[in-house]
Amino acid sequence: MRDPCVLCRVVLLTNNFLQIPYIGTCRLVLHGRPQYFQTLTFQDGVCVSMIKLSHVHKFFGPNEVLKDVNLEVKEGEKLVIIGPSGSGKSTTVRCMNGLELPTSGQVFVNGVELTRKNRTELVRSTSSMVFQQFNLYPHLNVLGNLTLAPIKLFGKARKEAEELAYHYLEVVGLTDKAMAYPTTLSGGQQQRVAIARALCSQTKIILFDEPTSALDPETVQEVLNVMVKLASESITMVIVTHEMGFAREVADRVIFMDYGTILEEGTPEHFFVNPIHDRVKQFLGKILY
Ligand SMILES: Nc1ncnc2c1ncn2[C@@H]1O[C@H](COP(=O)(O)OP(=O)(O)OP(=O)(O)O)[C@@H](O)[C@H]1O
Ligand SMILES: [Mg+2]
Repeated sequence: MRDPCVLCRVVLLTNNFLQIPYIGTCRLVLHGRPQYFQTLTFQDGVCVSMIKLSHVHKFFGPNEVLKDVNLEVKEGEKLVIIGPSGSGKSTTVRCMNGLELPTSGQVFVNGVELTRKNRTELVRSTSSMVFQQFNLYPHLNVLGNLTLAPIKLFGKARKEAEELAYHYLEVVGLTDKAMAYPTTLSGGQQQRVAIARALCSQTKIILFDEPTSALDPETVQEVLNVMVKLASESITMVIVTHEMGFAREVADRVIFMDYGTILEEGTPEHFFVNPIHDRVKQFLGKILY
């Protein structure tokens, strides 16, 4: 992982020397003005913070849709985001992959601050996204969808890209659909292709924004099964979903968002057994029963 800033690098070196874990806040002051303010987590001298949102605010016009969101996702962690419609779940995930830039606050991906300038390159090399509506290219067959980014963006040879595509088609159970066009596939199959496409980019992070909510109930499980399989890998996953059975099975942590803030966070068990806020109890009451 790249060192995030000069001061963090100093901290890193010091910690390596002292052999102690470090969790804390760094502030680099240049010419009397703070240039960086970040709270990346180091353990055993290694930065383990894969995504970090620090004091993120997002306005759309006068509407403040994210209000001081602070969130860290560690390498390999599976984080599930739940909450009512309009609470800011998609905006939070979109800030993680540079589709939105915060109005104020900072986003760090893989230890590097995401900026207007570096966001395309940084996100492309570190994270992929799976959307509710699949977003497959309709004019390309499945193999074409899967090999496009590896060939055009990552410079892989066609043969290597196709081998990769077949490998991930096997992971999602769709090897026989390599030549099919998206419109000939069911919703569940299209979403599994979209997941295979995300995997073909071989990024450390995959972000899922309600990947099963556009599917009919019978095909939801086939997509969730693929995601459960992925969750056993070291990949970092952030998943907006209301599939609480799935969350219970794979999530390391669940956060509940309401009105642009993180109202409550905990393990899936915490949310099933002992949620604190009435708002959370009320929401879970609706989606669980
Ligand atoms: N591009 C945009 N322009 C203006 N307002 C936006 C934009 N994107 C989102 N919003 C507003 O920001 C708020 C949060 O939206 P967001 O999509 O993040 O919510 P959500 O929790 O994902 O909701 P849902 O569960 O319905 O997907 C909403 O009030 C929404 O109308
Ligand atoms: Mg949304």
